[in-house]
Amino acid sequence: MSKTPLFEVENLHVSIEDKEILKGIDLTVNDGEVHALMGPNGSGKSTLAYVIAGHPDYEVTEGTIRYKGEDILEWSPDERAQKGLFLAFQYPTVIPGVSMASFLRMAVKNVREARAEEIALNGGEAKPFTPREFRKLMREKMEMLKMDDSFATRYLNEGFSGGEKKRAEILQMALLEPQLAVLDETDSGLDIDALKVVSEGVNALHDSSDMAMLLITHYQRLLNYIKPDYVHIVMDGRIVREGGPELALELEEKGYENIRKDVAAAAAGN
Ligand SMILES: Nc1ncnc2c1ncn2[C@@H]1O[C@H](COP(=O)(O)OP(=O)(O)O)[C@@H](O)[C@H]1O
Ligand SMILES: [Mg+2]
Repeated sequence: MSKTPLFEVENLHVSIEDKEILKGIDLTVNDGEVHALMGPNGSGKSTLAYVIAGHPDYEVTEGTIRYKGEDILEWSPDERAQKGLFLAFQYPTVIPGVSMASFLRMAVKNVREARAEEIALNGGEAKPFTPREFRKLMREKMEMLKMDDSFATRYLNEGFSGGEKKRAEILQMALLEPQLAVLDETDSGLDIDALKVVSEGVNALHDSSDMAMLLITHYQRLLNYIKPDYVHIVMDGRIVREGGPELALELEEKGYENIRKDVAAAAAGN
């Protein structure tokens, strides 16, 4: 008997304002696997990320998303995070006057408290999450990610460069210790140095846990730094090609338009 996959998207159809954007997506991610979802602009990549996060504007008209065998579509975004899903976004919001550290403490506290409740329900005893423990955890993770101490006291996203915003997301991810991280366009707006820092952080996290990842990206270049186990290409709301890391290289060489022609030719030949 096979093990329940960590995360399964099955025949997912999604509409926004009665326009169908996703037209039957199937995707399975097992523990520790790194998947890259690639595709041209407007193909529906972010739509999938938003649906996984539980954004209310997107209507699932058909299909399911399961996490550890449970249907997540009825879960609130908070519940999804508490159960171990992490979503990082293309456009992080600015929260003026909130320091990085206090924002992160709230985020971690929320998840820890929910986990503690679950542990208690199962008859166990969870350790209380004190400010002291948070500081220790923060130091640990910042060291792992080679981040400067001063980062924690800066105000969230105010005056952060693109690279710093991404670093903040990676730090948040490290603190939350998710089992599945979905990163949408983590490379957009990053120069090569920032891209390396972010990739090293993601790789360090991935190596130190069995965190699985779904990397959503338009460009191949992120995949020079983070090696995916599987690559899926989405066009017009459907996955049109799947393969190993070599598929990203083929895409780099041919470009999306040639892949589109190949797919159309193969369909015509059937
Ligand atoms: N809130 C929205 N309202 C209407 N259309 C949308 C909305 N969000 C996305 N779309 C449309 O859905 C399609 C897919 O968008 P998106 O998922 O952002 O693509 P990608 O991330 O692959 O570039 C596009 O045609 C886009 O115009
Ligand atoms: Mg997008």
